Amino acid sequence: MTDVAGQYDHFQISYETLEKEKKYLNYGYTLNPHQTLEDKQEQLCKEVFKLANIQHNHIIVDVGFGSGEQDFLLADLYPFSQLIGFNISQRQVEYANYRAGIKNLGDRMIFYQGEAERMERIADSSVDRVLAIECAFYFDRPRFYKEAARILKKGGYLVLSDITLGPRLKWLADNSTKYKRAGTLKKNKKQWEYYFQTRLIRNISNVTKQGAQESVFQILRTLPKLDQPLRGDWLQLALSSQLVALGLRLHLIQYHLIVLEKVKNTFKR
Ligand SMILES: C[S@@+](CC[C@H](N)C(=O)[O-])C[C@H]1O[C@@H](n2cnc3c(N)ncnc32)[C@H](O)[C@@H]1O
Repeated sequence: MTDVAGQYDHFQISYETLEKEKKYLNYGYTLNPHQTLEDKQEQLCKEVFKLANIQHNHIIVDVGFGSGEQDFLLADLYPFSQLIGFNISQRQVEYANYRAGIKNLGDRMIFYQGEAERMERIADSSVDRVLAIECAFYFDRPRFYKEAARILKKGGYLVLSDITLGPRLKWLADNSTKYKRAGTLKKNKKQWEYYFQTRLIRNISNVTKQGAQESVFQILRTLPKLDQPLRGDWLQLALSSQLVALGLRLHLIQYHLIVLEKVKNTFKR
């Protein structure tokens, strides 16, 4: 079984091989049933950007940015000063930097291979926004919240679109190593409130479940077009996406948009 970074390397290679134009990897935000999955995926990013209230002079850090597709969308929609990305997949980082170059965005955008929990190259209190679109369930959350709070300026926002286990699966979040990182909203909130004030939590499970189910169908349709070594990772994603789709439908899994504000520079721990 490939590790997470290796899996996302494979997803990126597949997207490049298939020459897929919009390389998102999220469950989307459904406005109407006629939208394509790509439109829904783009909409999820737009919802995050809206909540982030991005200004022309902002320095933004985007963690778990996938192929960087969301950041090129951001650059089309909003003026900002600088964007720095962190992602553990080397292939995705290379691709995002290559695309930034082609789009003449290289002076404003740079993507690094690195963990969201360790952004040493970013100075304390130097960033206006941290974005985390559908990726925080991979993170060691307590370390990530602390790191995001370290790099954010006072008054800066951490904005997430985030998947967690519902209250009825709390036992799984408490006991399973595999699902511990997803956590539950209540448990995660307790952790982030050491560093942040909660400005908004919006449950969007209802508008996400259609996209989660569609992702499964899309993966299964595409599978025969891919080389054998890549298929295993996609099959695994199809399986976990099916579980997410089912979980959202049964209220066992929840999807939220979350806005957190750093209100002070010193913390209890
Ligand atoms: C489900 S994808 C979401 C991609 C993108 N945000 C999107 O919506 O299309 C999760 C991303 O998180 C990245 N990732 C996983 N663990 C990470 C970590 N500890 N630090 C930074 N990125 C990570 C993966 O490489 C992948 O790019």
